[in-house]
Amino acid sequence: MRINLEYWRQNGPSDSGHFETHTLDNVDEHASFLEMLDVLNEELFDEGKEPLAFDSDCREGICGQCGIVINGDPHGPKRTTTCQLHMRTFKDGDTITLEPWRSKGFPVIKDLVVDRSAFDRIVQAGGYISVNTGAAPEAHSQLVPKGNADRSFEAAACIGCGACVAACPNGSAMLFTSAKVVHLGLLPQGQPERRDRVVNMLAQQDDEGFGGCTNVGACASVCPKEIPLELISLLNRDLIKSYGHKARQR
Ligand code: SF4
Ligand code: FES
Repeated sequence: MRINLEYWRQNGPSDSGHFETHTLDNVDEHASFLEMLDVLNEELFDEGKEPLAFDSDCREGICGQCGIVINGDPHGPKRTTTCQLHMRTFKDGDTITLEPWRSKGFPVIKDLVVDRSAFDRIVQAGGYISVNTGAAPEAHSQLVPKGNADRSFEAAACIGCGACVAACPNGSAMLFTSAKVVHLGLLPQGQPERRDRVVNMLAQQDDEGFGGCTNVGACASVCPKEIPLELISLLNRDLIKSYGHKARQR
């Protein structure tokens, strides 16, 4: 396949950035998107040009490291991670545009690589959970309703890729934060700190510069792990209860 690439170049968060172009003449349709970018970088290197910076780690859809906006869509035209996208998704002669996640909360480090440490700080703000140390408890000593277990497991599938933020016109991180709040909030182990957790994580999310949620739904439509929008409602319910709880304590 012949593929025309139009990719974003940016040297750090204060650089204004610009697009550059390159054509690859021999792209294997079965290559993954990141393998195609490896070939691009080999050609750029051979031409004495600087390779294009992009993030990846597992290349198996697990780590959440590989975020690129492809033709305007976070992770591209399929609902998957960038590393799980294959070149057969595109047609011979296509032009593909590559941009970084664009959000105030994700400053550009270089080219397509953004700093997603804001997500780590949101998780850190959630703090610890209180569990008894020592031997593992007997499996049936703490019963968890099946619905809660399923929903918690669903929320825990979030890989922190940030596509939800990139898709949101407000640059909101609510889908990510709701996944992190809900997966602990539905389990017995998550109860002692449940009220503080939701308040602190949302405060951190705001401090990081992410926008507010206005129920657009773009986040859930691009999420490669199919985290549902309803989790944001569960987070909001938790938040209201937490404020009520704190007001009663005063
Ligand atoms: S909610 Fe989905 S899109 Fe957002 S960080 Fe988690 S896995 Fe990625
Ligand atoms: S490189 Fe790990 S999810 Fe894509």
